[in-house]
Order: sequence, then C-alpha cells, then structure tokens
Amino acid sequence: MNTCSSISELQTILLPFRNTNRKIVLVPTMGFLHEGHLQLIRRAKELGDVAVVSIFVNPTQFSPTEDFSQYPRDIERDKQLAEKAGCDVLFIPSNEELYPNGYLTYVDVYEMNSVLEGKFRPTHFRGVTTIVLKLFNIVQPKVALFGQKDAQQSVIVKKMVRDLHLPVTIEILPTVREHDGLAMSSRNVYLTEQQRSDASVLFQSLQFAKKKIETGETNSHRIINEMKTMIEAKKDTAIDYIEIVDSETLQHLSTIEKGKTILIPLAVRFGATRLIDNILITT
Ligand code: PAJ
Repeated sequence: MNTCSSISELQTILLPFRNTNRKIVLVPTMGFLHEGHLQLIRRAKELGDVAVVSIFVNPTQFSPTEDFSQYPRDIERDKQLAEKAGCDVLFIPSNEELYPNGYLTYVDVYEMNSVLEGKFRPTHFRGVTTIVLKLFNIVQPKVALFGQKDAQQSVIVKKMVRDLHLPVTIEILPTVREHDGLAMSSRNVYLTEQQRSDASVLFQSLQFAKKKIETGETNSHRIINEMKTMIEAKKDTAIDYIEIVDSETLQHLSTIEKGKTILIPLAVRFGATRLIDNILITT
C-alpha cells in the first residue's frame, strides 16, 4: 500500500493508472476505521484496478459547536486496517493544502441540505459536498463508494453528481451493524456503557416501523409516535428527528403508498453523543 499526503504525490502514484485507463475507485472517509468503512474498501478493491482511500477529518462539515477537535483519530491503526482490507493508495491530505488561507469556494445542493440533518446542522452538507467534489477532482475516480448509514449524505452526493455532470458512478453499500443492531460509527466510542446498551433501541425502533408498514400501517404520524415512545423509554435520550420521507427526494410522506421506496431517518442524542440511523423500505 502506498501512503501519501500531498496532492502532487498522489498524482504521481495515480498517473500510470490513468495513462493505461485503469479503473480508480475511491472511498472517502474521516478515518477511525471500522467494519462499515472496511466493507467499502473491500468492495473498492473488488470493483477497481486501484482502490484509493482518503482519510481527512473535514473541518468544513463541523459547526463550531461540534466535535471536530475531539473526533477520534488513530492513523497507525487505520493504515493497518485499510491495507488488510485491500487499499492500494491511502491519501491523507493536510488541511493546509485542501483549505489554504483565503479559501472561498463551496458547493451547495439546495433544499436537500436543509431538511432532516440539515435542520440541525445547517452548514454540514455544504462542507460534505465541497470536500467530496474536491476529492473527486483530485482522485478522478470512475466509481466512488458511500454507506447507507449516512443516507442523506448519499442522496445529496448522488444529486450533486447528476446536477454537475460529474464523470463518476456512485455506489451505496448497506449499513454494517453491531450484533445488537447498533449501526457502526466512529462516534460510538463516545457512549458510556449504559448508553451503548440503550442505543440498540434505535435499530429496534426501525425494525418495528418496518414491521408496521409490512402489516399494512399507512399513517406515518402513528408510526413515528410509536418509535418516539420506544426511544424515550430509555434514560438520557433526546430525539432530534424521526421522519418518513421519499428515499430520493427526501420529501416528507404523511401517507405510505404502495410501490415506493421510503426512507426512515432518525437522529437521537444519548447524553452528549448524537447518533443517526435509518432504514430503507420498499412497500
Ligand atoms: P465517515 O463517517 O468516516 O464515513 C465514511 C463512509 O463510510 C461514508 O460513506 C459512510 O456512510 C460510510 N459508513 C460509516 N459507517 C458505516 C456503517 N456502519 N455501515 C456502512 N457504511 C458506513 O461520511 C463521512 O466520513 C464524511 O462525511 C465524508 C464522506 C468522508 C466527507 O468528509
């Protein structure tokens, strides 16, 4: 595995692949890798001739009150895990090169960036789409892989690719979960033992919603209320949102119709730790 931190070094490594038209696949991450990331890296290796993984804790997607400086980091461990999963090129850019003094350019996918997560994190998706577009321009992958765990991010990145005619295919892989259903996340390390155990209620509530819909419930409001009751039964929880939306437009659905793919995204705080999860259901 090649590891590099400057854009010019990366270009030198990738040049022979570009010249022979070989398939570059990119997995963008913020590091502190877990099985959710490793699944993406394995898939990148399987799909492409060269699997590029980026690790960059992107400051522009964190608000000043969020956990940018405390975000967990362990580059040595990440290097080992990435290599074992099949990473060919590990790109660890610097903040100075990506956002030099006087940096001014951002990309926004309007409307989609201000619902759900965007309501609670108003500048988050602008930071995500900006860094993802920058990484696409730097790496020029044929395919880029993302996880369903961050459902809204995946929808927004796909929309950006369509709207800006970017020459990259986006593939979304399913959410990887712990044994009790908790979605894997670098942020799970913030949870206390009690919160970690209570947090499985998120997956339980999503499974409950799925079952309700499968057995004929069509009223979103009723489903959401029952999910809220389940989650609020755990101590120290605060629900930011639970919604039922169209999986492509992210528009709220008050009635669940047949033949649609719906998304149920949620964000819940356990003490100071904010977790997100979601489920996709085809009716
Ligand atoms: P990060 O949270 O490190 O996630 C990197 C990729 O791994 C994302 O596509 C995310 O959806 C996926 N992922 C995380 N947990 C997962 C899980 N349990 N199952 C499946 N996939 C999972 O998402 C980001 O970083 C950043 O916003 C980034 C896209 C890198 C831009 O900075």
